[in-house]
Amino acid sequence: MVSLAQDLKHALDRVSFAKRLGLEPDPWQVDLLRSTSERVLLNCSRQSGKSTMTAVIALHRALYHPGSLILCLAPALRQSQELFAKVLGFYRDLGRPVKSAAERKLSLELENGSRIVTLPGSEKTIRGFSGTSLLILDEAARVEDQLYFAVRPMLAVSGGALMMLSTPYGKRGVFYEEWSGGHGWERYEVPASQCPKISEEFLEEERASLPPFIFRQEYECSFEETEDQVFTTDMIDRALTDEVKPLFGMGG
Ligand SMILES: Nc1ncnc2c1ncn2[C@@H]1O[C@H](COP(=O)(O)OP(=O)(O)OP(=O)(O)O)[C@@H](O)[C@H]1O
Ligand SMILES: [Mg+2]
Repeated sequence: MVSLAQDLKHALDRVSFAKRLGLEPDPWQVDLLRSTSERVLLNCSRQSGKSTMTAVIALHRALYHPGSLILCLAPALRQSQELFAKVLGFYRDLGRPVKSAAERKLSLELENGSRIVTLPGSEKTIRGFSGTSLLILDEAARVEDQLYFAVRPMLAVSGGALMMLSTPYGKRGVFYEEWSGGHGWERYEVPASQCPKISEEFLEEERASLPPFIFRQEYECSFEETEDQVFTTDMIDRALTDEVKPLFGMGG
């Protein structure tokens, strides 16, 4: 049983809340848990704990901010379900501190009016949620642009928070665009070298067995040229100068 004082501490400090869940947050995770930003981009190594930290944040909001609607979204239902399973696991580990009104495979409804809902990664089925207080996009680099454009308006009236988390996947798509040039985001770049739980030996083994561009992508937060791209983005940018006149008239 947690005391009222402890519970108040968990309500006010997500780091203490994470510790209560048996986690020992890494330095970047502490920064994220203490952040109050409503727009967060996590460009992180595989296995850095980005889904776990987001699950902590989702559950914290549901428990301590009654009436919250939290949406978990990823390119495929299996991936959003994985995130939701982490949330549900933490909720059960805590002994259901706020009673559940409905505990389903894809959603959790609490008696305080909060809901956490898992969504499939398809634009057609996700419309219709309004009043969203937190929208989480896991594996965001692989989310279709159309899906992103369809979900953003869900935050319009509620002024809800948006978190996009991913390992990079080429110089394309909304995650890359927002990371490289979007406004108003708090950005976290977390290579595997900043993850104490990923050992140097493991990383060296991976480096030796993976193609270099895959290693850079998976463990070093690098947006690599896409596999099917013949010309590099730099080559294309350099080719697109104003000095070269188009061969065929462009109206001037
Ligand atoms: N602070 C922490 N304390 C203890 N365990 C942690 C912590 N952060 C992450 N982990 C563990 O590390 C593992 C990887 O976490 P998680 O699945 O959240 O990473 P991820 O970055 O989402 O990985 P992926 O890119 O594969 O989706 C999990 O087993 C998780 O429980
Ligand atoms: Mg993950």
